[in-house]
Amino acid sequence: MFAGQSLVDDYTLQIFSSDVAYYAFLVPALLPAFICFYFVIWLGHEKMANVDAIPGFLATSFPGLPVEVKDYIAAILKENASEMVSVDEIFSAVGDHLIANVENLGDDVARRVCEQFMKMLHGDNVPVSAKQVATTRKLEQTVDMAAQKDDFRDRESIWKLQTRDTPTIVDKDKLKKAEAKTMDKAVAREGVPVVKRKRQEILATASQAANRREQSGAGQNSLNVALESVDISIGTKQLLSSANVTMGYGRKYGLVGRNGIGKTTLLKMISCGQLRIPPNILMLSVEQEVEGDDTRVLDSVLSSDVKRMEMLEKEKILQERLNKSGLSDAEKNKHNTELAKLYADMEASGMDKAPARAASILYGLGFDPDEQKKPTKEFSGGWRMRVALARALFVKPDLLLLDEPTNMLDMRAVYWLEGYLQQWEGTILTVSHDRKFLNEICTDIVHLHTRRLDQYKGNYDLYEKTMKEKLTQQQREYEAQQQLRGHTQEFIDKFRYNAKRAAMVQSRIKMLERLPVLQSVEIESEVHFHFPECEELSNPVLILDDVGFRYNAESPFIFRKLNLGTHAQSRICIVGENGAGKTTLLKLLLGDLDPSTGIRHTNRRLRIGYFTQHHVDQLDMDQTALEVLTTNHPGRTQEEYRASLGRFGIIGDTALQPVYTLSGGQKSRLAFANIAMAKPNYLIMDEPTNHLDVETVEALGKALNKFNGGVVLVSHDEQLISLVCRELWVVKDRMVSNLEGGLEEYRKQVYKQLQLAA
Ligand SMILES: *[C@@H]1O[C@H](CO)[C@@H](O)[C@H](O)[C@H]1NC(C)=O
Ligand SMILES: *[C@@H]1O[C@H](CO)[C@@H](O)[C@H](O)[C@H]1NC(C)=O
Ligand SMILES: *[C@@H]1O[C@H](CO)[C@@H](O)[C@H](O)[C@H]1NC(C)=O
Repeated sequence: MFAGQSLVDDYTLQIFSSDVAYYAFLVPALLPAFICFYFVIWLGHEKMANVDAIPGFLATSFPGLPVEVKDYIAAILKENASEMVSVDEIFSAVGDHLIANVENLGDDVARRVCEQFMKMLHGDNVPVSAKQVATTRKLEQTVDMAAQKDDFRDRESIWKLQTRDTPTIVDKDKLKKAEAKTMDKAVAREGVPVVKRKRQEILATASQAANRREQSGAGQNSLNVALESVDISIGTKQLLSSANVTMGYGRKYGLVGRNGIGKTTLLKMISCGQLRIPPNILMLSVEQEVEGDDTRVLDSVLSSDVKRMEMLEKEKILQERLNKSGLSDAEKNKHNTELAKLYADMEASGMDKAPARAASILYGLGFDPDEQKKPTKEFSGGWRMRVALARALFVKPDLLLLDEPTNMLDMRAVYWLEGYLQQWEGTILTVSHDRKFLNEICTDIVHLHTRRLDQYKGNYDLYEKTMKEKLTQQQREYEAQQQLRGHTQEFIDKFRYNAKRAAMVQSRIKMLERLPVLQSVEIESEVHFHFPECEELSNPVLILDDVGFRYNAESPFIFRKLNLGTHAQSRICIVGENGAGKTTLLKLLLGDLDPSTGIRHTNRRLRIGYFTQHHVDQLDMDQTALEVLTTNHPGRTQEEYRASLGRFGIIGDTALQPVYTLSGGQKSRLAFANIAMAKPNYLIMDEPTNHLDVETVEALGKALNKFNGGVVLVSHDEQLISLVCRELWVVKDRMVSNLEGGLEEYRKQVYKQLQLAA
């Protein structure tokens, strides 16, 4: 079996499985790569080492490769042939040079090319360690040209990093020329005015090392999960690189890390089976809402338990058999015994209690008994998402994967869920931006950064305390070691050919070899947001005076006689159960809905900036962030657009990427920047935290606090509420009341309500 062949197969497969419309687009782009593969296949028959074939191989396979780079790669390989004993080593020495200089060449293909170099350097005498590397690191193929281009920036930085450590023995001039060539290319590509790129599905791939325990057959009944040497990429962007994580049964893991860093992708890779979980572990993931159809909500939850459904089916069959006339006594006895056994099984599995259990889960998530009897099609997406969550909770899987479970919930449901998950027996891996939720349920935190996973014991607050110290310490150690390496290398280079110092040189070389390999840590910079200053309004600013509202003369009143005043520096948070009318209230404040009775007074100069998740979804996905601002606020200078994006952390190339490549959090930031650009003096925000990470929520809270205009916020994120809120409005029973005692008091009331219900 030869690697090149399966590579081509993978490619073919991917192309056919992707939209046919892209096919025509892909073929020309892939042509050089295809030529290379066939060359690779041809070369695969070569059994002997042949270092001198490398320049020819490069020239034929990559005609566009600048000659400086070609020579440089050939020189590195030739001069260091004896040390290049694994594909990894070859890849780290020359991989980035290939990727940076060959259009559309992904990491994975570059690796295959390095496997060929390996053959050329050592023939079939591949050292054992290298063979192992090749088998454990199964890399799968994706075709995603758009993402490859977008990720060029990342590659460039790798390039820079890499050249710092490249061997000094190689001709410095050649290196400089090669480097200059690569930079030129980078500038040429990025300086090009933004062209509309065809949007493509971005495919993610993942691989992991075979689980040792699984292989040896030991501990097969263990419910612990160990993921080893996990690699995940989207296109050519690597999200994880030999990352490890172990999850002990019954522990609750919070998966945290910056927006867009790959948390959701990791969950998906586990849930869709790309990363293997031992088969004895029942895993469930809540990703999509249930479909809306005629199934009643309660039945939808009950039917999620497959074992229960099977037993019910069996009961029906046995009953039917017994009802048949003309059964012999023997047959009757047989069926009766079977039925009795089935009933015993049913009782043992607690089946009689199942409907009550399902109902209590649904009630906790906000479905009252009447609603549980309604068909799912009568509910909105958010509520059907709750049904999906209820189904997963009902089944009690060994491993439960949750992605932002609090997004669709109101505060009461969040509190209920926190309580429920604290009692949960199985393992949980959850992504969440909700600091309180993470603090309440997590026994461990998994931090995704620098393409790896770090584990911390304890909840989020504890993690936050230890993480920064630990990373700073690691970075210090790394830098100290780099310095030591540099000095030692200098010494070695200087006295390499000095016979008198040969022994010393040898001992230094040994010393270098013995140094542990440390990784550089990219410490994430703090996030800061900033809303621009605005002119101050004189009071009153925005007042609802005896306002009542109903949709038409026949429908009941949603609100009656609201008397609410806000002023120039209001910090108001609106809370209440979903469906209580929070959004209707916001629309009345905004003036999007006209009061049926009463009057809405506003200051003449009031300029509202309004954020809702809906606006984020409506961004033109094919435009770049910069283009979005240019379209919405024409006639400003490039600097102004850039500055506005910069105020929300969209800097550098991110501003030039099409919106569809941005993560949910980045899109929200873009929406903030878009609002800020209109210089509002009053901000109204509806659930702004849904796609942010914990630090970004904090940044938003601080920015809202500093803003010199007024703020009205609908949110169930306690971190944000406690940062911003000075008045808490509770929407309940067609009333809006200003709750004395604020969040603290509201929390007490909700907990009390939950206790009464239980
Ligand atoms: C290449 O060889 C030189 C000395 O022979 C060595 O210092 C350098 O580390 C080697 N480079 C790589 C990438 O192995
Ligand atoms: C993960 O485990 C593998 C094998 O034990 C090890 O080689 C690798 O360095 C680990 N990764 C990290 C990031 O520690
Ligand atoms: C079987 O007969 C009993 C009593 O005659 C009846 O209650 C039951 O519904 C029947 N079951 C089926 C599955 O036909």
